[in-house]
Amino acid sequence: MEHRDPDSLRARPVLITGAGGQLGRALVEEFATEEVVALSHSDWDVSSPPPPGLEPGLVLHAAAWTDVDGAEEEPQAAAAVNVGGTTHVAELGAPLVAYSTDYVFDGRKTEPYVESDGPNPASAYGRTKLHGEAAAGEQAWIVRSSWLFGPTGSNFVRTMLRLGAEREEVAVVDDQRGSPTYVGHLAAATRAVLELPFGTWHVAADGDCTWADFAEAIFAEAGLDCRVRRISTTELGRPAPRPAYSVLRSEKGAPQLPHWREGLRECLARLGV
Ligand SMILES: NC(=O)c1ccc[n+]([C@@H]2O[C@H](COP(=O)([O-])OP(=O)(O)OC[C@H]3O[C@@H](n4cnc5c(N)ncnc54)[C@H](OP(=O)(O)O)[C@@H]3O)[C@@H](O)[C@H]2O)c1
Repeated sequence: MEHRDPDSLRARPVLITGAGGQLGRALVEEFATEEVVALSHSDWDVSSPPPPGLEPGLVLHAAAWTDVDGAEEEPQAAAAVNVGGTTHVAELGAPLVAYSTDYVFDGRKTEPYVESDGPNPASAYGRTKLHGEAAAGEQAWIVRSSWLFGPTGSNFVRTMLRLGAEREEVAVVDDQRGSPTYVGHLAAATRAVLELPFGTWHVAADGDCTWADFAEAIFAEAGLDCRVRRISTTELGRPAPRPAYSVLRSEKGAPQLPHWREGLRECLARLGV
């Protein structure tokens, strides 16, 4: 694998795709001291070829179809973004960070997934992301992360804060285990990834929990008096299958992220909670 001098990447701008998404916004903040071209969905729909004149030195590709259940209903539309979009981004010819997901795994393991584990996605979303990894090409860091949350956009933390303020009890799935990862921590770790060889890297929060554990932690940290009723994935009845276990760890020395609870506290502080 080729190793890039990170300084040489900075001669031309850093392009951030999906800059309006939760990770995209965190990346824009993290790379604020660089020359950045931040393109949101309305600036460039990545399922179409790139707009003329883009000549980045590095691409942080955070644009994606992330509606897991929607991808089950519209797999071709999801593939147009997650595979076609990544192909278009790779065609720019710059080194590329392509963010991917724990959902490339089937979740049958009972110990953390490492980079050499074979992917076997159970959902249409996971399949499009896995094909997107291949579309990123040779000059790419594939950064797999999991259960992202941050102060903006649509995510579990923001949903639980809303529900926890409205209700006395929420039903939350207790048979899926993963590592909730704060986008600020993932954005900061992206800098360290740029110093590693191209290839696949697992970069997720330390620690793991179920969604129900996570909900309880959110309520506890936010001081919300709301009970968590632990339910099964089957009981929730979502269209797309999710891995029962998708904790990611690196066997290759990827940057270590703080514990998910620390990420949760940072996120709540950003939200003024
Ligand atoms: N969310 C998670 O739990 C999670 C877990 C592991 C990995 N990841 C990966 O991490 C990356 C960032 O995810 P995220 O959580 O930041 O997702 P997000 O908040 O949904 O952001 C994705 C962004 O991509 C944009 N987008 C969608 N279709 C597009 C298109 N055709 N062209 C250009 N932009 C488009 C969205 O814009 P609109 O909202 O306007 O459509 C949104 O701003 C993705 O690659 C995702 O697969 C996410």
